[in-house]
Amino acid sequence: MNLTTAVLITGGASGIGKACAEALARQGRPIMIWDIDSKAAAASASQVQQNFNVDTSSYGIDISQFNEFESALTASRMSKHSIGGLVHAAGVDGSVALDDLTPESWQRIMDINLGALPFLTQLLLPDLAANSGSAIVGIASINAHLGNQANLSYSASKSGMLGLVKALADRLANDNIRINAVSPGQIDTPMLAGPMAYMDGLREQFELRILMGRLGQASEVANAVAFLLSDQASYITASELVVDGGNLSSQR
Ligand SMILES: NC(=O)c1ccc[n+]([C@@H]2O[C@H](COP(=O)([O-])OP(=O)(O)OC[C@H]3O[C@@H](n4cnc5c(N)ncnc54)[C@H](O)[C@@H]3O)[C@@H](O)[C@H]2O)c1
Repeated sequence: MNLTTAVLITGGASGIGKACAEALARQGRPIMIWDIDSKAAAASASQVQQNFNVDTSSYGIDISQFNEFESALTASRMSKHSIGGLVHAAGVDGSVALDDLTPESWQRIMDINLGALPFLTQLLLPDLAANSGSAIVGIASINAHLGNQANLSYSASKSGMLGLVKALADRLANDNIRINAVSPGQIDTPMLAGPMAYMDGLREQFELRILMGRLGQASEVANAVAFLLSDQASYITASELVVDGGNLSSQR
């Protein structure tokens, strides 16, 4: 059975979130994109609509502003489609080491990468509960497992995502809603392009460690997300799916 309910995707203007919008639209799902970059969100929504012939909407919002979620939902909800899926892909790396850590930078990373997910889930609960097959995916990271002093708050936010997904899964199962985490390895998106542009040899350093010898593509993460949001994954909840080309398991 193909699901036809809409999916709300945070961070859908770029990289992995945008690829998720494409993969889910390919399955016929209407797409709602929320992103801080409202112009890019609108462009992404209109591309998806054109290429996959599904209804889309877009909305510009800073996802750390939890108290704006309700009005954002009212403004971006498509009257023809109820909502049966959520992907929280909005994220910032904000590499901050211990010496440079401030309460403000810590809070911002936590709110964007992690805090938005429970408040979005809370808001969407009536929609998700009303639709059979509803599911959520939170984008975590292999940094949830790896120790890297440059990524202090980022790693904490992504580890937090894994714990949060398990706790939410316990509550959401009461309403037959599934929730899982996808942990990408190093994926070729604008987030990684920045550091690779100013650090010579960084790409090669990444590729040396990865068993498959290359960075991942956003579409390869999106395919895993689309699977977890589909009925093909009907008995999978509270899990983490690692999409890293063999990075966590590498001893190279
Ligand atoms: N690229 C990688 O190697 C990699 C690896 C592991 C995990 N991830 C995770 O994947 C997710 C997507 O990252 P990406 O690589 O596609 O990066 P990206 O920079 O291409 O996309 C991130 C999107 O999030 C949006 N965003 C940022 N802050 C926001 C805010 N406050 N409110 C609303 N939207 C906001 C950006 O505008 C952008 O469209 C992130 O959660 C990231 O941590 C990425």
